[in-house]
Amino acid sequence: MEKIAVYPGTFDPVTYGHIHILKRAAKLFDKVIMAVAADNYKKTIFTAEERIGLIEACGLQGLNNVELDIFNGLLCDYLEKKGAVAIIRGLRAISDFEYEMQMGSLNRHLNNKVETVFLMADSEYSFISSSIIKNVAVLGGNIEQFVPDKVAEALREKKENRIFS
Ligand code: COA
Repeated sequence: MEKIAVYPGTFDPVTYGHIHILKRAAKLFDKVIMAVAADNYKKTIFTAEERIGLIEACGLQGLNNVELDIFNGLLCDYLEKKGAVAIIRGLRAISDFEYEMQMGSLNRHLNNKVETVFLMADSEYSFISSSIIKNVAVLGGNIEQFVPDKVAEALREKKENRIFS
């Protein structure tokens, strides 16, 4: 049976840290669905479709077992619908652990067929998050080392159009 994992997130926007986790997960599972949350609690600067477009621009061509999708509602329901057995999450620091443990336990209670698999972020990416990248971008800092060129460009456009400040 094909082992499918879902890598969920807001990805507003995607960073090299997310891509690194995705590539490693793709080596562990037959298929990984990178699932963009359309309507979670976060206020996003990119629409779900824009976030998918930016992920597509990240050079995932060689990853034949990766799919991109947008999901709404409960993550565990989405996993059920996709026949997935695992949730992939990246752990960057001890500070991520408490929240991730809560979320992993909750998801297992909601759907006991699903396990959360944590991958430790590479030290090169352990200090970045989408918010911190947006913060640096808005202040005119160099973000090219943390995100693909298309993402940096899209952030500059949003800043110029005053979508975020
Ligand atoms: N590299 C870079 N950044 C990383 C990272 C990595 N390896 N791993 C995590 N991050 C960042 C993310 O970019 C995000 O940054 P931000 O807060 O600046 O946006 C942060 O760490 C993690 O944010 P968090 O809110 O924990 O998760 P998320 O935004 O990635 O996604 C969902 C959360 C969508 C998975 C979760 O809200 C969800 O499942 N929603 C669906 C509704 C549901 O089922 N709820 C009940 C279960 S909680």
